[in-house]
Amino acid sequence: MRRMLAFSVLGTAVVLMAAGKGINQDLAAKGEKLFKQKGCMACHTIGKGRLVGPDLKGVTERRKPEWLIAMITNPDSMLKYDPIAKQLLKKYKTPMTNQNVSEEEAKAIIEYIKRESGK
Ligand code: HEC
Repeated sequence: MRRMLAFSVLGTAVVLMAAGKGINQDLAAKGEKLFKQKGCMACHTIGKGRLVGPDLKGVTERRKPEWLIAMITNPDSMLKYDPIAKQLLKKYKTPMTNQNVSEEEAKAIIEYIKRESGK
């Protein structure tokens, strides 16, 4: 009986986590600040249409995490050498500027984009 109870508590926890889609809320909050501080919002929205750059809603499903980190931390060489980035540049005609973002900061920003995309 006691064991059954333990299982159902565990089950509830799993369901709750799935509802939040596994978003790390602390990390996403950090990412939200960085998105403003690092000037991303001057060129991007998340779900409000394109500005200078693409709308980032759902970008975490369109691209691999390593690709996103590379694009956010080092857009200059991505725009020179990466086929997807080069194609984006053709379409948007303005190069994304390097905003001096570390890999760790990029991960927080990606978590924020994920959170906003799920809304
Ligand atoms: C000066 C405007 C500008 C700023 C600032 C900027 N970007 Fe961009 N970004 C772009 C443009 C334009 C593109 C499309 C590729 C290109 O033309 O360089 C892009 C592409 C991207 C992509 C790929 C989108 C896709 O559909 O695959 C991501 C992700 C991204 N930017 C994230 C960021 C983040 C995060 C920041 C802040 C650290 C940022 N950008 C700052 C203009 C900008």
